[in-house]
Formats: sequence, structure tokens, C-alpha cells
Amino acid sequence: MQRAARGGWYPLCTFPNPARERTAPASARGYAAGVPRIVVLTGAGISAESGVPTFRGPDGLWEGHRVEDVATPEAFDADPETVQRFYDARRAALTTVEPNRAHRALAELEAAVGDDLLVVTQNIDDLHERAGSQRVVHMHGELLSALCRACGRRTPFRGALSDHPPCPVCGAVDLRPDVVWFGEVPYRMQDIQQALASCELFVSVGTSGAVYPAAGFVQLARVYGARTLELNLEPSEGSPYFHEARHGPAGLLVPDWVSQLVD
Ligand code: APR
Repeated sequence: MQRAARGGWYPLCTFPNPARERTAPASARGYAAGVPRIVVLTGAGISAESGVPTFRGPDGLWEGHRVEDVATPEAFDADPETVQRFYDARRAALTTVEPNRAHRALAELEAAVGDDLLVVTQNIDDLHERAGSQRVVHMHGELLSALCRACGRRTPFRGALSDHPPCPVCGAVDLRPDVVWFGEVPYRMQDIQQALASCELFVSVGTSGAVYPAAGFVQLARVYGARTLELNLEPSEGSPYFHEARHGPAGLLVPDWVSQLVD
């Protein structure tokens, strides 16, 4: 994951060259089984009304912590205890929050359209799943999962990694949070790219558009011909790239949008 370019360098991006893809024939957009027609990208803003802090902004997590201290592989190598405790606290806090109307509306949409919806989330909480969504890609990993640095396996995890539990697969005491840090490659990028290339509608909910590659999904979806809609509390860095942007709390905007689709 990369920080956004602010008037300087262009973020590293594994996407196809837009100039070339623009000429792709419309017939290239296939709808094989399992290929979603709607892709919803969610960010911290969708969980804000549940009480999970966002990253940027006045009370954001990155106001209280330096990214470099807790969200890079280098930070973990330098001070694993601090990093483990940071994520242990966030994991423990999950037990105090519940899905909100926006999560539930997306689960209702999935119940109505099934495989035609894919939720791609940058969030590491489990609120989409607890609301009932089943087709969710956690591109930045999950708090309720641990990654073994010895054997590379990802296993469900609910405790405190600062207690130094062994890996349930290989027994090594070398577990880290299963989250994607700055400088690491997000999960399932190939699946996401395929979904973006095939969808008819791309909707972004509660994300600042400040972190790539997710911030570039709107442009990729557009290149392939999708209609694009932003639902966010306020105008974001990404707003100019969307066909339409609606501003307000996700707990209102998402149920409204879903009811337009399924009623
Ligand atoms: N409803 C809708 N949007 C909201 C709400 C709300 N109730 N509250 C806040 N927002 C919006 C903010 O206006 C902001 O644009 O959500 C966005 C949250 O932005 P960030 O805090 O930057 O979170 P996100 O975009 O998910 O961050 C991306 O950055 O630090 C990394 O790995 C981290 O996955 C994260 C990534």
C-alpha cells in the first residue's frame, strides 16, 4: 500500500496502463458466473458510526500515532511490542462495537443480488461479516487473523499477540498482526482487478482516497466503463474522479442508495 501522490510522485500501481485499456472493446466485459456487476469499496468511514475511529481527520488514529511507528514492517522489526500492543488494543475494541445501518444495508443488497455484489474493504474490522455480508475481500488484512512469519500461514486469532502465543500450525512464536502495512502488497489484488474490470457500477463508501492502490480503483473501473459513485461524509481527494458524489453519513447514504437499487 502506498501513500497518495500530492503534487509530486505518482504512486506505484500494478494496474494496466489506462491509455491502452481505454481501447479495449466493450465485448471484453464478460459476465461469467461469480463476476460481480457491483463493486463496493469501503473505508474507515463506514465503521465510524459504529465507533471505530477513522485514520485521518481530527480524532483519527494517525493523529495519535505516527504511521511510521506502528504501520510499517520496519516499525515491527524495530519495536514489535509497541506494534503488537497497538493492534491488540484495536482487536479488543472490536468486542465493544456493532455493525451500523450502512453495513447492514450492504448485507441486504448482497441478499438481494447475490454474486452480483462484491465488497472490497480496506477495513480490518469484522463489521461487514457481522452484518451478514459473505462476499467480502479484506484487501488490508483482518484484525481477527494472525500471520506466522515462520510458516507464512494465516490463522483466525482473537487474543493478544503481545502474550507471544505460538503459531497453531507450526508452533513458532513468531506471529504478527495479519494486516497490510505501508510498503506491503494488499491481498487479492488480482481478484479485485478482475472485478473492477467487469463491473457495471463501482461505489466507494467512507474512504478519503488518500491511500493507493485503493484510491486508484475508481479510475480503473471508469476505464473499463463502469458508472462510479462516491458516498462519503465530505468531499474527498477522490471525489473529482467519480461520475457522482453524494456527501453525508454512511448510515444514511448507503441505505438510501441500496433502497433505490432493490425496491
Ligand atoms: N460516513 C461516511 N464517511 C465518513 C464518516 C461517516 N459517518 N465519517 C468519516 N467519513 C469519511 C471521512 O470524511 C474520510 O474521507 O471517511 C473517510 C475516512 O478516511 P481515512 O481515515 O483516510 O480512512 P481510509 O480511507 O479507510 O484509509 C485508507 O489508510 O491508514 C491506512 O490502512 C489504513 O485502510 C486504511 C487506509
